[in-house]
Amino acid sequence: MANIFAKKPLAQLLGEANTSGEGTLKRTLGALNLMALGIGAIIGAGLFVRTAAAAAQTSGPGVTLAFIVAAIGCAFAGLCYAEFAAMIPIAGSAYTYAYTTMGEFVAWVIGWALIMEYALGAATVAIAWSEYLNKLLEVFGTSIPYSLSHSPLESSVVNGVTEHGIINLPALLVIVALSLLLIKGTQESAVFNAVIVVVKVAIVLIFIAVGWQFIDPANHTPYLIPDNAEPVKNAAGTIVRSYEGWNKHGWGGILGGAGIVFFAFIGFDAVSTAAQEAKNPKRDMPIGILGSLAICTVLYILFGHVLTGVANWREFADPALGGEASVTYAISAHMPGFEWLATAVTIAILAGFSSVILVMLMGQSRVFFSMANDGLMPKAFSELHPKFRTPYKSNLALLVFVGAFAAFVPGSLAGDLTSFGTLLAFVLVSAGVWIMRKSDPEQPRPFRAPLSSPSFPFVPLMGILVCLAMIVGLDADTLKLAVGWMLIGFIVYFIYGKRNSKLQQGIVVVPVEMEEQAFIEPDKDNL
Ligand code: ALA
Repeated sequence: MANIFAKKPLAQLLGEANTSGEGTLKRTLGALNLMALGIGAIIGAGLFVRTAAAAAQTSGPGVTLAFIVAAIGCAFAGLCYAEFAAMIPIAGSAYTYAYTTMGEFVAWVIGWALIMEYALGAATVAIAWSEYLNKLLEVFGTSIPYSLSHSPLESSVVNGVTEHGIINLPALLVIVALSLLLIKGTQESAVFNAVIVVVKVAIVLIFIAVGWQFIDPANHTPYLIPDNAEPVKNAAGTIVRSYEGWNKHGWGGILGGAGIVFFAFIGFDAVSTAAQEAKNPKRDMPIGILGSLAICTVLYILFGHVLTGVANWREFADPALGGEASVTYAISAHMPGFEWLATAVTIAILAGFSSVILVMLMGQSRVFFSMANDGLMPKAFSELHPKFRTPYKSNLALLVFVGAFAAFVPGSLAGDLTSFGTLLAFVLVSAGVWIMRKSDPEQPRPFRAPLSSPSFPFVPLMGILVCLAMIVGLDADTLKLAVGWMLIGFIVYFIYGKRNSKLQQGIVVVPVEMEEQAFIEPDKDNL
């Protein structure tokens, strides 16, 4: 009888990591490269779209506090990630870590949750991309009709007429285009990544600096949404947002907002997947992970402060006002004389989002690749293209799956489901560090998370608790869907994964090398 908690032996995993040969990844990334990688993957729709959503839905100007709660959860979970990343320096991230610590079933649960993180995350950013594209087109006096740039579950009152969405074509197209690019294989050069990082950080800094002068203190009072806050109505008088639930106002709303803006931090764990390429994982991984987290947290708090000071948070609740492309809206509506900045920011955001989508689609295909290699997913997902050496079948499946989400699901829902999947993975990774310290204390750990001894596992426990609290604070409907998704995952595991698992059949997995798809190509001159 198969044991669903069978663990992949660590020695076998490390053997996979150490297989020498031409295909193995080179150790070329230093702490600064890793931080740049982190920031490049982190700043995206979370900041430029979900900040306003959290302010409008649960936190008001207190979204700055929500960022702090989310950052605390990320820091604890991040330290746990760093310990695993340095100990098991293998591409594949949380899924791989779980396979060796908590066994196959938990690994499956994480893999299934990671599909939410990467696939839905890519869809969320694509939907945000579509919002900003429309703002850019407006500058040129045109726009894509509401019905062709929104999900069927969305509607808005535009110029007195209620419009309904049918399909989000721009979001679908950007997913198709980037998936095809990934199939062909693209090497994002270190220089290109650095340019994107600089552009993204620059627009955040410029917005903070310029916007600071336009802050109206009245917008910051009260700082938290009061429990008797009036519902927000659209131009037709229909209620679009109300604030009764425990997680929709006051301190509960800060926790609710933390789960929403948590999206903005997703990606720093991508640094851990580059552990195999780090020159000195022991020193550089924690600096890379925590450094990118720290820089982003400071930027986010300042950004949230300015955004909710320039425009009132209630404006962000109405899709016809600041509910979409919130940053461009805030500048155009409240910062007279800075129309040029609105356009520049929009262009930069579109470019920045593309790289986040690329990294997420690639991350997802890697998770599929690892799971398929282990027999838990159909073999097709680990088949490489004969010419391009990329997991093209996986990319094609994602093109359809993620494309459908981008086309038909509202951004808010996709974003919150992404937060759920990632938070669940964080909880399990934190638990994994604790379990591993108990079960395998002798295993060399190039980096040890502080305060994590088996008898006093403060850091793992805090990682578990803070991330669980953020899950509980998510919208109730989102949670129902997320639980449904996880249940489907259980069924798929018992019908497919468990039966086909190579570990269960005693087959040792031989790693297959694939081309790097869109990762950083080290600057050859700096080797
Ligand atoms: N953190 C990434 C973003 O905000 C996923 O777009």
